[in-house]
Amino acid sequence: MKKILDWTKYMKAAREVVQEGCVLLENKNNVLPFAKGTKLAVFGRIQNNYYKSGTGSGGMVNVSHVYGIPEGLKSSGRVVLDSELEQIYADWEKENPFVIGEGWGAEPWSQKEMSVSKELAQKMALKNDAAVVIIGRNAGEDKDNSETEGSWFLTEEEKTMLKNVRAAFKEVCVVLNTANIIDMNFIKELNLDCVLLTWQGGMVGGLGIADILTGKASPSGKLTGTIARNISDYPSSKNFGDEIENVYEEDIYVGYRYFESAAKDKVLYPFGYGLSYTDFSIEEKDFNLDFGSDIPRIGITVNVKNTGNSFGKETVQIYVKQPQGKLGKPALVLADFKKTSLLKKGKSEKVSFEFSLSRVRSFDDTGATGNIDCFVLEKGKYEFFAGNNVENIFKIGEVLLDETIVTEKVSEALQPVKSFERLKSCGAKDDGQVIFENEKIKAVSPYQNAHRQEELKKLEDFFKDESIDKESLSIAQSLSDEDLACIIRGEGMGSPKVTPGTAGAFGGVSDSLKAKGIPCACCTDGPSGIRLDSGAQAFSLPNGTLEACTFNPELVEKLYRFTALEMVFNKIDVLLGPGINIMRHPLNGRNFEYFSEDPYLTGVFTSAIIRGLNTQGVTGSLKHFCCNNQETGRRTSNTTLSTRALREIYLVPYEMAVKNGASVIMTSYGSVNGMWTAGSFDLNTLILRKDWGFKGIVMTDWWAVANDEGKEPEKANTAQLMRAQNDLYMVVPEAIANTFGDNTEKALKENTVSRLEAIRSAYNIINFVKHSNAQKRADGKEVEVKIKHRPPMPMDKSADKIVYYDLRDGLTIPVDNVNTTRGSTFGFGLSSKDQKKYRMTITCETVGNEVAQINTSLAWNGVVIHTFGFTGERNGREVSEQIEFERAFPRFLILSLFFSQTGLKLKEIKFTTVQ
Ligand code: BGC
Repeated sequence: MKKILDWTKYMKAAREVVQEGCVLLENKNNVLPFAKGTKLAVFGRIQNNYYKSGTGSGGMVNVSHVYGIPEGLKSSGRVVLDSELEQIYADWEKENPFVIGEGWGAEPWSQKEMSVSKELAQKMALKNDAAVVIIGRNAGEDKDNSETEGSWFLTEEEKTMLKNVRAAFKEVCVVLNTANIIDMNFIKELNLDCVLLTWQGGMVGGLGIADILTGKASPSGKLTGTIARNISDYPSSKNFGDEIENVYEEDIYVGYRYFESAAKDKVLYPFGYGLSYTDFSIEEKDFNLDFGSDIPRIGITVNVKNTGNSFGKETVQIYVKQPQGKLGKPALVLADFKKTSLLKKGKSEKVSFEFSLSRVRSFDDTGATGNIDCFVLEKGKYEFFAGNNVENIFKIGEVLLDETIVTEKVSEALQPVKSFERLKSCGAKDDGQVIFENEKIKAVSPYQNAHRQEELKKLEDFFKDESIDKESLSIAQSLSDEDLACIIRGEGMGSPKVTPGTAGAFGGVSDSLKAKGIPCACCTDGPSGIRLDSGAQAFSLPNGTLEACTFNPELVEKLYRFTALEMVFNKIDVLLGPGINIMRHPLNGRNFEYFSEDPYLTGVFTSAIIRGLNTQGVTGSLKHFCCNNQETGRRTSNTTLSTRALREIYLVPYEMAVKNGASVIMTSYGSVNGMWTAGSFDLNTLILRKDWGFKGIVMTDWWAVANDEGKEPEKANTAQLMRAQNDLYMVVPEAIANTFGDNTEKALKENTVSRLEAIRSAYNIINFVKHSNAQKRADGKEVEVKIKHRPPMPMDKSADKIVYYDLRDGLTIPVDNVNTTRGSTFGFGLSSKDQKKYRMTITCETVGNEVAQINTSLAWNGVVIHTFGFTGERNGREVSEQIEFERAFPRFLILSLFFSQTGLKLKEIKFTTVQ
């Protein structure tokens, strides 16, 4: 069977996402859109270095081309850019190249900016109509942002540029190409009229942004997080960034749930906010209640009218004010949202909502309502509001509950093992503002082992479930202890058993497993498109925040249907994403991968992406389960939080996606309430499988650790993974070799893990891979995807500079001064007269921390055959990797190395004959 992936349509979908995800923060005096023929002076070095995505695994997509903002503007044909200024920046760039840092997580958050003098600004103002100033900020894995200039704050150089340009030009538009939010006080301080927050739009970013600037599209993005005045205004600030312990004292009061309750004055731009080039009115049409079922259903219809002078789309947001009751509630909670279609001026559209009141359920974790470990709707008045941001709403109706309703009873699981005080609302004033008190949360003594023991008695039930796949089960039951230990090892990075340069192989990772009919599946990052460390190129997607700011899940789902086809093309079964942690704090280095501070909104987008991917038999791995809300100490720190915060905030997106067809989940690196998540029985079995009915696989994050209850974590504790039902350990260099000395087999022998538990995980893996495209590939029945309209994507950029060497035993290739920075390739030719078999040894010095991934791929005549998995673990030391070529060398051959990350120093490449 053949399918077509039309690259032009893929680009169009991504471009639409960029158009709809950019948030117009200010547009006084209608600076935007620029009229046709506007002469524009573009300032800011980022015009030559567009940030397509953040750094680390959430951004490593090799692309043949990234459309920057000037290119987008020029190709629009609607505006004219000042070429003298462009040249000034191009010349300056040569002297001041973009710095990417050395190794994993090392790229600076910002780059040196060119000084823009008053004179330069004035000179440009004399011959141009308007200015665009681009400010860039990056963020990424393994490193949080900081409250410093160049990260959260503007640098002096950037401020001077803005000041001088503002003073010289009548019309200035500031374009923020930032991974995360930054301090926005400068907008007022520098009296800026027009600010467009464009996030990071992937490879087509500049095209989508230009569409907004030139008026081809009207902005319709809305903020998915609150922009407050100061970092210290965020209630999580007190407990953010510790390497060892972070207590979520703010409890459920994350983002607007806190600000709208008690700190409205601290808000610069509220949740849900974003301007358009036109105006809209939203009026109530209908509000109805259906008491037919146990839990009332709400029906709301509003009429949206475009009352302005241009076309545009508006997002209607429905918020609920709940009775304070015994539990205390935030002032407002988002219950639903919908975007209109494109409305011409004067046109109207009816927008309807229908949902169960349980959408705004609360979790009783203390028994205050008499229903411990239950989701409840407390008795009292529920008021519904509609509007276009959390602060611009009007009341639309209400419902009164006479009695408290229990909507669901769930497992008693994952309680805090340390006592702490949390924020609790103890009532609200007439104006709706919440009165906070501190509530003491008692610690429970460690209990997860006891929970496991209890469930062990019922373990047979797992295999009696009517949904069980008999064939997969019988294979799992037939596995020897060695096979069982092997199947839980994912192999990577760069396993030769799957697509070269990918993050991991799992399933049939040994000959013995393969012989039992288990195919080998392939997974790779990630949230911003397909990461191929081989150097092969792929489509780079807009970042997660931008996707969610569209408030248009249908559009995002459409985009991921293309990604699904691209995965099939590359023989990849699981994309390691989306990243669905909650934006608890604005300095989290990976917020750019995530969607929102609101769990429902996050859940809607997660579900949309999973639906999109699932259309082609591939899927995404939801990550990082759970509470991976900072990068500092992500492998060492424990999060202490209430089960209310867990169940109402942090777990919601996972729960929603699981109920919408998600089948793979990645646990986080860190610990939650005393257990490293990879080995948390409560999380992976009680909550995920028992409460939510999850039937898929759970994998660890790469080289994660797990602990026995009350003990220190270790990498090799796979026995605890089995007990918890975290099925896959990701990753080991070679599954059959047990390089890390893991303890599954030992635990099976000593019966500290029951054989049934190991079979259960093996079953989860086998059942997944047997129903994936990996099985189709093994059977020769795979779908063939042809890519249409894709520009050429050459892998080896240095093919024209190839030097040939005569191949012989002991040949050493000169490697002095080889450029090994991210994205570079080093190719050389070999001329062989005797067609022998050879071994190649590559020796490097590595720089980086323990989890740095500095993979280097090797291509044989342009075809990637191997990835050397260098990691920063061997920081600073010389390390050698080898490959023994299975085939004899042909007469002429080009080998090329592709460096996917900066951080290696090449010392030697040597060839020896294999006897
Ligand atoms: C990241 C994951 C990623 C994995 C594989 C880890 O360091 O936390 O998000 O999927 O590496 O690259």
